Amino acid sequence: MRPAKITLHRDMRIGDVDPRLYGSFVEHLGRAVYGGIYERRHPTADEGGFRGDVAELVRELDVPIVRYPGGNFVSGYNWEDGVGPRHERPRRLELAWKSIETNEVGVDDFVDWCRKVGTEPMMAVNLGSRGIDDARRLVEYCNHPSGTELSDLRASHGYADPHDIKVWCLGNEMDGPWQMGHKTADEYGRVAAETARMMKLVDRDLELVACGSSSSAMATFPAWESTVLEHTYDQVDYISLHTYYGNRADDTPNFLAKSVGMDAYIREVIATCDYVKSRKRSKKTMMLSFDEWNVWYHSGLTDQDIPDWSEGPPKLEDIYTFEDALVVGTMLISLLKHSDRVRMACQAQLVNVIAPIMTATGGGVYRQTIFYPYLHASRFGRGVALDLNVVSPTYEDKEFDAVPCLDAVGVWNPEDDGITVFAVNRSLTETLTVDIDARDFDGHIATEHVTLTHEDLKARNTLDRPDTVTPGSAPPPDVEDGRAQLSIAPASWNVVRFGPA
Ligand code: AHR
Repeated sequence: MRPAKITLHRDMRIGDVDPRLYGSFVEHLGRAVYGGIYERRHPTADEGGFRGDVAELVRELDVPIVRYPGGNFVSGYNWEDGVGPRHERPRRLELAWKSIETNEVGVDDFVDWCRKVGTEPMMAVNLGSRGIDDARRLVEYCNHPSGTELSDLRASHGYADPHDIKVWCLGNEMDGPWQMGHKTADEYGRVAAETARMMKLVDRDLELVACGSSSSAMATFPAWESTVLEHTYDQVDYISLHTYYGNRADDTPNFLAKSVGMDAYIREVIATCDYVKSRKRSKKTMMLSFDEWNVWYHSGLTDQDIPDWSEGPPKLEDIYTFEDALVVGTMLISLLKHSDRVRMACQAQLVNVIAPIMTATGGGVYRQTIFYPYLHASRFGRGVALDLNVVSPTYEDKEFDAVPCLDAVGVWNPEDDGITVFAVNRSLTETLTVDIDARDFDGHIATEHVTLTHEDLKARNTLDRPDTVTPGSAPPPDVEDGRAQLSIAPASWNVVRFGPA
């Protein structure tokens, strides 16, 4: 047992959480679309070919926004291939993931699916193989009401009402040498600024995301952000961040500490944005869109055996462990801790491809371990994020020095005065006895303590054993005079809820 302390106070506000912090991502990659959200011959498929069983789990997660159609895919994509009568759509070589793209699903179909599952699309434009003209044409196709060639084309496809897509990404990972149409920061910054200007001429209400670095490990980070923002600061509303973590060296204490690096990455991007703001004497504050984040490493080797040019190949199908769920929990905590500036985020991805939801083609569906922290944060993490004063024992790590065992953040819901504390105990061996000082919420009681624990860090859910790792509960702590003692098990994800008595 090691002591720790958390102080909760209404005045320690980080900011209002934008619900779009709990976004996700569907790319035309592997079985994310074909065999994932869409499978025409599946017993649960609806009239549009979308799987009902998958849609149900997406609704359960209450995903507010879904990025589409890529990812690396978008940098070679012709959006026109995916609209109009299905039987007339071309089959193409998909060069990013070396697959065959049938174009059975395109932007109109995706918007249909979004409406069905109650989410909003976040559309990316192709700034790799294409550019400004293609982007402004796509905005016109999607958002212009009627009376022009492209808006009438949309209507002729059965969509008289505009799709009204608000959030758009200006390309994807354009700093990465693997990206089709990869650019230098100056090249990208110029194209992104002019594309943004033209897209906003078509629809002035758009919210635009410029590509930041593909990760903080890129040699060009953070000079890339600085240069891109020099060009685009007045035209865009967000700069993107991407990160994926893995436990390749089987060093779990280090793996569980990765979000310390995520915190630093976010701080560095904020500092770069604010530096450019200051250079430009601007009044505008740039916001962050963390539109790819997750654990990704399990599928690396097996994917090498998948032949090129197959349809819906099982690529990037990471089967997640219990410890991966803890890392996802810490990443969600990191996003919440910076939710004053990180306004949107997308877990990458949603179904089958590095995803919380897995399907068998023609068969069932199940929740991966990482489904649960995402579910809890999406359900209970809306309101005002509170910076908790956390005092915690630490452990030494080769990458991050003194890592706090206790990682935690709070969210206060002013509507019902409820508070949720999300906490991970990174220690693999020691229970934390957390002294909670909630005197500012005098009269509150603890109503629930949801936990995710497992004796085997490598435990996984599978189609046959979907409930190996599922949430449990612990007795909520007694609160007396605004103080409580909370016991947090080693290697655990915790959701502790308080409300007025
Ligand atoms: O999410 C998988 C891939 O990771 C995306 O296509 C790309 O943007 C990133 O490198």
